[in-house]
Amino acid sequence: MASTDAVIFTVNGRTHVVTNPSPWLTVNDWLRDQPGLKGTKRMCGEGGCGACVVMVTETKGEALEHRAVNSCLYPVCGLHGAAVTTIEGLGGSNLGKLHPIQERMVQHNASQCGFCTPGMVMNMYSLLESTGNKVSAAEVEHSFDGNICRCTGYRPILDAMKSLSKEEEPVDIEDLKPTGCKGNCPGCPRVAKESSLHLVSFPDGDDGPSVQWYRPTTEKELVSIMAESTRVSVRFVAGDTAKGVYKNLPPASVYIDVTKVAGMSDINLASSGELTIGACVTLSVLIQFLGKNMSSVSYFGELLSLLKHIANTPVRNSATWAGNFMMARRYYFVSDALTAFAALAPTLRILRADGTEASISIEDFLVLNVANVVIQSMTIPAPALNSVYAVHKVMKRHENCHAYANASFHAVVNPDTGVVTEQPRIYYGGVQRTLYRAADVETYLVGKSVLDNSVLAGAANTLLAGLPQTPMATSGSVAYRSHLAENLLYKFFIQAAGKHASPRNISALSPIRTGTSSGTQSFDSVPADYPMTESVQKLEIRAQATGEAVYISDLPILPGQLYGKFVLATEAPAKLDSIDSSVAESMPGVVRFISAEAIPGRNSFTRANEEVFVDSEVQYVGQAIGMVIADSEYNAERAARAVVGKYTSTGKSITSMKDAIAAGSFHTGAPSALVVGNADAAMAASKRRIEGQVSCGSQYHFHMETQSALCVPLEDGMDVFSSTQNIASVQRAVAQSLGIHAGSVNVTVKRLGGGFGGKISRASQIAAATALAAKACNRPVQVHMDIDSNLLMVGKRYPWMMDYEVGFDDDGLIKAVKGTVFADAGYDGSDDTMDGALLWLDNTYNIAAWNVTPKKVKTNTASNTYCRAPGSIPAMFFMESMVEHVAKTLNMSPDLVRTRNFYKKGEKDIAGQPLTYWNVDTLWEELSQSAEVASRQQAIEVFNKENRWKKRAMSRVPTKFGLDYFGAPFSAHVAVYGPDGTVAISHAGIEMGQGINTKAAQVAAATLGIPVSMIHIKAATALNAANTAETGGSISSELVSKATLVACTGLKERIDTSTAHMPSTATWLERVRFCSGSGIDLSNRGWYQGTHTNSNPFAYNCYGVMCTEVELDILTGETNVVRADLLYDCGRSVNPEIDVGQVEGAVVMGLGYWLSEEILYEEQTGSNLTHNTWEYKPPMALDIPQDMRVALLKDSPNPLFALKSKAVGEPPQVMTCSALFAAKHCIEAALEEFHPGGSPYFGLDGPATPDILQVICQPSIQSLTV
Ligand SMILES: Cc1cc2nc3c(=O)[nH]c(=O)nc-3n(C[C@H](O)[C@H](O)[C@H](O)COP(=O)(O)OP(=O)(O)OC[C@H]3O[C@@H](n4cnc5c(N)ncnc54)[C@H](O)[C@@H]3O)c2cc1C
Ligand code: FES
Ligand code: FES
Repeated sequence: MASTDAVIFTVNGRTHVVTNPSPWLTVNDWLRDQPGLKGTKRMCGEGGCGACVVMVTETKGEALEHRAVNSCLYPVCGLHGAAVTTIEGLGGSNLGKLHPIQERMVQHNASQCGFCTPGMVMNMYSLLESTGNKVSAAEVEHSFDGNICRCTGYRPILDAMKSLSKEEEPVDIEDLKPTGCKGNCPGCPRVAKESSLHLVSFPDGDDGPSVQWYRPTTEKELVSIMAESTRVSVRFVAGDTAKGVYKNLPPASVYIDVTKVAGMSDINLASSGELTIGACVTLSVLIQFLGKNMSSVSYFGELLSLLKHIANTPVRNSATWAGNFMMARRYYFVSDALTAFAALAPTLRILRADGTEASISIEDFLVLNVANVVIQSMTIPAPALNSVYAVHKVMKRHENCHAYANASFHAVVNPDTGVVTEQPRIYYGGVQRTLYRAADVETYLVGKSVLDNSVLAGAANTLLAGLPQTPMATSGSVAYRSHLAENLLYKFFIQAAGKHASPRNISALSPIRTGTSSGTQSFDSVPADYPMTESVQKLEIRAQATGEAVYISDLPILPGQLYGKFVLATEAPAKLDSIDSSVAESMPGVVRFISAEAIPGRNSFTRANEEVFVDSEVQYVGQAIGMVIADSEYNAERAARAVVGKYTSTGKSITSMKDAIAAGSFHTGAPSALVVGNADAAMAASKRRIEGQVSCGSQYHFHMETQSALCVPLEDGMDVFSSTQNIASVQRAVAQSLGIHAGSVNVTVKRLGGGFGGKISRASQIAAATALAAKACNRPVQVHMDIDSNLLMVGKRYPWMMDYEVGFDDDGLIKAVKGTVFADAGYDGSDDTMDGALLWLDNTYNIAAWNVTPKKVKTNTASNTYCRAPGSIPAMFFMESMVEHVAKTLNMSPDLVRTRNFYKKGEKDIAGQPLTYWNVDTLWEELSQSAEVASRQQAIEVFNKENRWKKRAMSRVPTKFGLDYFGAPFSAHVAVYGPDGTVAISHAGIEMGQGINTKAAQVAAATLGIPVSMIHIKAATALNAANTAETGGSISSELVSKATLVACTGLKERIDTSTAHMPSTATWLERVRFCSGSGIDLSNRGWYQGTHTNSNPFAYNCYGVMCTEVELDILTGETNVVRADLLYDCGRSVNPEIDVGQVEGAVVMGLGYWLSEEILYEEQTGSNLTHNTWEYKPPMALDIPQDMRVALLKDSPNPLFALKSKAVGEPPQVMTCSALFAAKHCIEAALEEFHPGGSPYFGLDGPATPDILQVICQPSIQSLTV
């Protein structure tokens, strides 16, 4: 095989020749670096988020095969002869128009921060191309299982994409294709199709060792390469997606790309029903094949539905079943494919380097020495008559998630008697490190009937007696996985029983979610006030849809630019004795390593003393001890892993709040207690009293743009481009750590790819460290944190807990609340989210007496910080938990307890805020009607009677959300330009998806009397936004709008006065030109400090009600949000579509918080175990409410704010605990059935993940009947 040093492929129709690419150079790194196509984003680098999706086209025979792939995983070496299409190839300002998909995104307002948008567009484009523009709405919805959006709540994205489905308004196939690839351009490298390739590269430079990449096309070539490579490390490469799960595998010397070997991508279904699948058949191709031949073989449908739940669409488009099997064998991976196929008794054909081959069983494979062995294919025998095949996977969320456990069953069952006639095959994954075969159960079942309940009990007992009890840190408790094993066996019995199963028990098999989702949005606007109250399109949405919107990591690469990677501590609490960076500093491309010693100023990025790099005491595993600076991100990352810290332990790591409380580990300076009335007396006088404890966890912000900064040393200071929500904090942090004047630090922020509070204070550490690196090297340095470091190093939402005592009477009227509220600040308490939180505790309830003490807990975890609705979410959850507890104690409906305790208009709340405009009771009634609560409640009761193993329930949660302006100042600098009268504004708010720029432009346009299209919003800078507040707390859009109003009003007055002599018919442009020509200043600065009227604690209250219906699978704990209705008083919204988007985004972020997002720590080491997309699970497109109805209260101008609007970023999220309570009511319904006489009260903490929910309602073995 002739060797070469070049890979040839096209990108958007243009040929590229890449010489000497290393096997680990990804398409994403190359695209963003070389041709500088930065529309393709990068977030996780592990196939888990979809920000990086591009389309790869290859020839398959005479046809073209298009597929969406994760460019962060796809190797450049694998591109030889392929065509790549990126977002830039679709449409944009360069091409003079938008692609129809981009247009639909714009029309549906389907982008907030925009970081996920190019990936979404490319995923849809690939879907349409690969299906010939013929997709159903359901196919569209299920194809977005690999794309995360943290901002929008997915609804507008799905609407935009589904509008292109065949049921709605598909575009003409010709309009779909502005791309370069028509499959017939002269000179296209795809003429090299299927050709062998031997690539030699020198990743560490010409003097370093060479690495070989082979792409054989025949078995003979393959075996001969294997034979030649027996003395070196070899890695077979198929889809190369395993590196998304195992990111730090050591490099090999020889890579053998097996995807083009003849026969290895074939599927052959014999007329007998025997199926042979080549090892390089991807999961997507297999799914398509099974779908097309569904009626041919009995198990195809069941297998197909399982395969669709492996990974996500772009991963499945590359991932092969053989790669999946090998991961299980090599790395003890819990493989869904291996479990699924094992029960079908396949044989694997394997080839060895010595030229021999063998056919082996799954049992042989599990003990095979896999070194230099390649899987060629798998053959599955035709299923016997009357065979029943079942396969299950239980997950934390509905898609793109590893299994808690999986199982497969295959048996021949007499359809009349239910007797199992041959030894069945039963396998479990996730109960131990390797696949587990329940051989005892298989033997037990032979000759017995699945219709016999005593056989079922016997089988379950046999299973449990032999089941391994292996702890798995992030896959639920051993008890939960034992329940799953038993319950999945039960599900198999129901399936095998078929028509003999009781109709109520069939619910064991019904999927938890079917069909597609839908949503409605309802709001009003006042055309006379336009552009105010108008749903003006987001200013940036076209740039976001085309990938032209620039984030920090997309800024043009500067001459000499370097890249920084944090080095994180691996032990804590500990003394950092020394750091050995010698190996790292000798690695290719590394310029230097810096640590605390390199800090010329103060080692702190906060006003207090939170260190940029650890000086001597390490407080938590993941704390930054230094930074490697190198010529590429890859080199920096590789070297960062080679830096070794030496530590002396100073104690045991405490990561849980309960352990910290037990150890008396608290921060000083907790806010004062909430004391209202005489709680002791009121408690003593209460007829009833209860005590309880409830808690809610942490939450990672999951901003799709991770923390980033670019720092450029200047002759007199530093230019800092930071992804911060807080310019002043970054300016201070950089100045104080460098020991230079604040005035010499120029901070610029154009936009963020999401913030959610995580970039208010924490971005300052990243900016300060980057500035230190830039200073140390005297060169520009960029840091774009990888997801692992972002999760390990940076603090998140505080976890909270409350011990409470409640006094109430027989009617459910609550008289007194006493208790202690704990909040885990992490190791440093400087981001105080406790302050003021207790003032939200009352939520909507008038309770006369309170005595609640706050305590700030100290743990060995990253300093926790602000996260959307930081103090209000736990406070209101605690109150609602107490309401639920009271209701259960009295056997009363929680809704009745709620309404009985509602405040009344005109009363004062516990903060002393007069409730002059109180309208919760009206909202409650209105939502009860619009959400059809009464009739749905009846339907739920019928559903629960008919379905033994699925339960449904609803919960309504109201809110009174006091909005505090904190005296926050904001500025807006407005300039009008003489030549054409257009306007530029630089305000102090940070655009991060919430539409602050669009709202400011609307205000400016309305005030100046010109169209919004004449307004341009510029980046925020430390010069224009000097001494202003952070963007957060839901208040910034209003305050920036007000500052813009002030600036524009002053400017308008000046222009009007100066042009008073002109005729009234003079146009805006004529007036502007006159002023410009007369030397009149056409710019103005507005300043507005958020103040409250009448010295009230809050500027005003936001009100709303949410009703959520949830379905629970009793046997697995999986939930589905069936419907969510939310009515929110948004005042007179400045831009209703933007505000609806905020509500929907907040709802889905809230659902993630309550149902799937979980931060777990390793108990012994204190290390965060959930630091990537593999383990941390925010909602995806199939996790949103299946029916989401959002309404903004109509005709409801806010009398307490000049613009008549109300804040919207946070308040809707506080009501999403209704999902947790609905899940709790589902469990109650189940317990009532299995424990006649009523279920006892139980507290439910957040997050209520499937493993938590299920263990509360596990039925006894006797309850499992056919
Ligand atoms: C984001 C993400 C989510 C995922 N979710 C799931 C999930 O929910 N469930 C699940 O089961 N899996 C999941 N996976 C794993 C995924 O299914 C595997 O990565 C994939 O199947 C591996 O196939 P591949 O072709 O990419 O293998 P590669 O990455 O190319 O190879 C994987 C291993 O197999 C070896 N290998 C590959 N082909 C052969 C062959 N023919 N003969 C011998 N050795 C071979 C390689 O040398 C390597 O050791 C996920 C992966 C990602 C990235
Ligand atoms: S960056 Fe590629 S999937 Fe996240
Ligand atoms: S718009 Fe999707 S992540 Fe921000």
